[in-house]
Amino acid sequence: METNRLSHALGAEIYGVNIVGDLSNSEVEAIHDAWREHHVIVFRGLELTPAQHIAFSLRFGALDDHAATPHERLDGHPELLEVTNKPKKGQPSQSRNAGRNWHSDYSYTGRPAAASMLYCTEKPPVGGDTMFCNMARAYDDLSDKMKSVVDDFQSVYDFTLVSGAAKRDPAKMVELLKVNPPIAHPCVRTHPDSGVKALYVSERTSHFDGMSRAESAPIIDYLCRHATRPENVYRHQWRVGDLVSWDNRTTMHLALGDFDPSQPRHMLRTTLQGQKSGYVVPPAEP
Ligand code: OGA
Ligand code: MN
Repeated sequence: METNRLSHALGAEIYGVNIVGDLSNSEVEAIHDAWREHHVIVFRGLELTPAQHIAFSLRFGALDDHAATPHERLDGHPELLEVTNKPKKGQPSQSRNAGRNWHSDYSYTGRPAAASMLYCTEKPPVGGDTMFCNMARAYDDLSDKMKSVVDDFQSVYDFTLVSGAAKRDPAKMVELLKVNPPIAHPCVRTHPDSGVKALYVSERTSHFDGMSRAESAPIIDYLCRHATRPENVYRHQWRVGDLVSWDNRTTMHLALGDFDPSQPRHMLRTTLQGQKSGYVVPPAEP
């Protein structure tokens, strides 16, 4: 197995391992090690069936059934989420504007995603890139004083802050808000495998628990700008057949709308279940 780093901050391509074959435990361990080190790993040139995508993902842990976003599941495969701008059953896809603000997957749930594995089956001729930033470096780069301040914060995640919320079907939105009320998670989390500390705040954080929106906003804004500085980012230009796997505990990502929306962009995602976390809170005070 060979790795080829894709940027200074994070990301590596992996070659020389057939992920649709019967992977040995040592191959899985080697992939896991590369993933822990680079946070985002890329496999190229695949032709995955849903069953192969699911089987590979399962080698790394239990999969989420996506009950938090039930309308985006692939028919017959609750372990696969469709991220697509192609109409579904004659209706606009609910995921057509998904991911257009910096986030970590399922942060608005009581079981934030450990990792995600996104597979590209169709892409526009140009654009439709995804950016990733390294939240462990972002934490590490803070001053000791700032670290000690954010160490005590709880970030409140609010489903209404997902991108494209206003363009979603309002009835489905009401349903989703019932399943996903505002929830607080630690603003700094320790990775269960590596012990690395990483920031956990995003453009979907409404406020810090115990503080008003007005008090929180400048700090959230600063932390997001700090985390997403260009030198802390890897920008993935998709090719059909790419499988990109990211660790949601040490990264954020952003789907860029830098493409012609009349061109199909179609992806399938598995989500590795994280640990249960968080407590439900009332919506933010102004
Ligand atoms: C996701 C997501 C980004 C993209 O699948 O979780 O945010 O570029 N996708 O489609
Ligand atoms: Mn996402």
